[in-house]
Amino acid sequence: MIQREKIADVLKSTTYNREIKVMGWVKTFRNNQFIALNDGSCMSNLQIVVDFANTSDDILKKITTGAAIAATGLLVESLGKGQTVEIKANNIEILGESDAEKFPLQPKKHSLEFLREIAHLRFRTNTFNAVFKVRNALAFAVHQFFNERGFVYLHTPIITASDAEGAGEMFKVTTLPFENTPKNEDGSIDYKEDFFGRSANLTVSGQLEGELGAMALGEIYTFGPTFRAENSNTTRHLAEFWMIEPEVAFADLEDNMNLAEALLKYTINYAIEHCKDELSFLAGRLADEEKNKPQQERSEFSLMEKLQFCLTNDFERITYTEAIEILKRSKPNQKKQFKYLIDEWGADLQSEHERYLVEKHFKKPVILTDYPADIKSFYMRMNEPDEQGRKTVRAMDILFPGIGEMVGGSQREERLDYLQKRMEEMHIPQDELYWYLDTRKFGTAPHSGFGLGFERLVLFVTGMTNIRDVIPFPRFPKNAEF
Ligand code: 4AD
Ligand code: MG
Repeated sequence: MIQREKIADVLKSTTYNREIKVMGWVKTFRNNQFIALNDGSCMSNLQIVVDFANTSDDILKKITTGAAIAATGLLVESLGKGQTVEIKANNIEILGESDAEKFPLQPKKHSLEFLREIAHLRFRTNTFNAVFKVRNALAFAVHQFFNERGFVYLHTPIITASDAEGAGEMFKVTTLPFENTPKNEDGSIDYKEDFFGRSANLTVSGQLEGELGAMALGEIYTFGPTFRAENSNTTRHLAEFWMIEPEVAFADLEDNMNLAEALLKYTINYAIEHCKDELSFLAGRLADEEKNKPQQERSEFSLMEKLQFCLTNDFERITYTEAIEILKRSKPNQKKQFKYLIDEWGADLQSEHERYLVEKHFKKPVILTDYPADIKSFYMRMNEPDEQGRKTVRAMDILFPGIGEMVGGSQREERLDYLQKRMEEMHIPQDELYWYLDTRKFGTAPHSGFGLGFERLVLFVTGMTNIRDVIPFPRFPKNAEF
């Protein structure tokens, strides 16, 4: 019995005229003779030349797009264009038929919207083969980056009782019945009867637990699924997304910015080095898409130029206050083209403002720091009020061209009295978070961390435009298919 070889290895092979066996899915079958076979191991297909005179009609009929086959034959140098080797098959075995009439993926270009509806089959396309290979490489690069730096990968819980962001965008986790739900005397739900004996939800962030780890292990990171029940139907939001959250003891905001910038550059560079075929395919796809846009909307850069540009340039670092000044003076603000005009300090930045700063003004990734305390979470470290008495926190957001917010983080408030005051002001229940406050009571220390939205990174590196196309099975409002 001869062992199956992967097509990626076969295509690299230079030992010809040997008998080999491959298995894969038929992409196309031309002239009853040439099969383009793909087994997922690489973007390229392997050409199988069928000996149609000696192959039964019954088999030939079943070599259809989407069918799974095993082909055995001689590996030979190919004379055809676009390939170096091919297999002269002496045996074709049909592993799984695919009714050509019913198989939704035809050998032609399908829209991404259509493919999203058949997400269970879209892995079979070149685009999604490339996207999920890049996603895999980026995930591996994240782990390698932190591992090289001595960080501990900490698994924070997926089911929690706390709202880490204090934004109330949580999915409840309960086993209580919808009918005859146990109630307290005041009519509220009696969670003592529930599975955990209290109300619980899916985590929105592993940060708070991550901080506990960092205050003993020094440097930790999480990399796991997080959930947001926000009703955002955009190309940048998912209800279930993966987040990378490092947390570092004895680090200030400057260290935090350096770490985030290094992580982004490292992972992007890793993808460039390890996903050459995939990225060159995706760059071509993006270039085709750009051609269909009106001239003024087209990007000045190709995908590879955009990635290289991020590696070779320092990210611009400015404060929120400086950003507001730039935005106030900007053309779209003066000409009232922004939907939300910037006229005073304290306004939350909308994506149109972020895009202006990154894409028009600086034309590179921007790290915005020191946001008004009022628009940021309770755990961020309070700055001394400025000359005008305005309160800011040591927050940072990293904004990327075409993406907007890629990273959100901060130096944490390590001073117990400041933290308690903030929690009180923001109505964050202190008794429920006693364990979080304990770190500030016993050996508190300066520390910082951030969250990188993994799908936003994949979106940037692949040049895809909708976040639903960079996670295998996207979850968003009114959709939990597959
Ligand atoms: O800015 P966020 O909400 O920050 C936190 O959750 C902090 N606890 C992180 C920390 O300091 N450890 O989210 C962090 C990042 C965002 O910058 C964005 O990239 C991504 O997570 N993100 C989303 N990605 C996809 N879909 C959503 N609905 C997202 N919400 C946030
Ligand atoms: Mg944020």
